[in-house]
Amino acid sequence: MGHPSNITPIEHRISLAERELRSRHRAGILWLTGLSGAGKSTLAFSLEERLFREGWQVYVLDGDNIRGGLNADLGFSHADRTENIRRVGQVAVLLADAGFLCISAFISPYRADRERARAAAGGRFHEVYVRADLATCERRDPKGLYRRARAGQMSAFTAIDDVYEVPQSPELVVDTTIDTAETSLAVLADYVSANFQVASSTAAALSQART
Ligand code: ADX
Repeated sequence: MGHPSNITPIEHRISLAERELRSRHRAGILWLTGLSGAGKSTLAFSLEERLFREGWQVYVLDGDNIRGGLNADLGFSHADRTENIRRVGQVAVLLADAGFLCISAFISPYRADRERARAAAGGRFHEVYVRADLATCERRDPKGLYRRARAGQMSAFTAIDDVYEVPQSPELVVDTTIDTAETSLAVLADYVSANFQVASSTAAALSQART
C-alpha cells in the first residue's frame, strides 16, 4: 500500500454541481441492506431499469456480481465481509462523485461497516432496510442456500450462523413481507423522487445562470 504522505490527491476540474446539472438529478447512494432473499437485488434492478428509462444516470452494485470480480478474493468471514463493504462503499462514492445514483444491494450485515460506508459518502448515503424475517426468506430460498446452510453444507450463513444487525435509523424501510414487489418499487421510486430529483424549473434556472 502506498504511504499516504507520498500521495497527492488531484482535484477534478468538473464540479459535482456541474455533473448533477448534466444528470438532471442529484447524485448519491441508495444503500439496500437486508437478509439474503429479502428482495434487495430484485428491487435494485427493477429500480435501476425504471430510472434509467426515465433518463437517470443510475447503476447497481450487487453482492453476487461484485463478488465475481472486484471482490472475487473475498469470502464470508467477518473480516472479508467488512472488506467487501469497505471496497463497495468506496466504489459507491466514486459513482456518486461521477454524478450517478448508485444503488447498492449487499447484505451488509454489520452496522459498523454500513456506518463507515455512510461516513465515506459525506451526506449522500441513504440507508434502505429491505426487511423480511428469516422464516420468510427461508421459505423463498431463491438460490437454495438456506437449505444448504441448514444441511450444514455452508457455514457462516447470515441469520443462521452469523449475525445480521438490523439498521437502527435507516432513511427508509421497505417491508417485502407486507408489500408486493410493485408496491415496494413504488415506495423506493417515490423516495428517489423526493430526495434526488431536481425540479425541472430549478434545473432550467441553474442552466440559465451558467450561460
Ligand atoms: S455481505 O454479507 O458481504 O454483504 P454480499 O451481499 O456481498 O454479502 O453477498 C451475499 C450473497 O452471497 C448472498 O445473496 C448469497 O447468494 C451468497 N452467499 C454465499 N455464502 C453466503 C453466506 N455464508 N452468507 C450469506 N450469503 C452468502
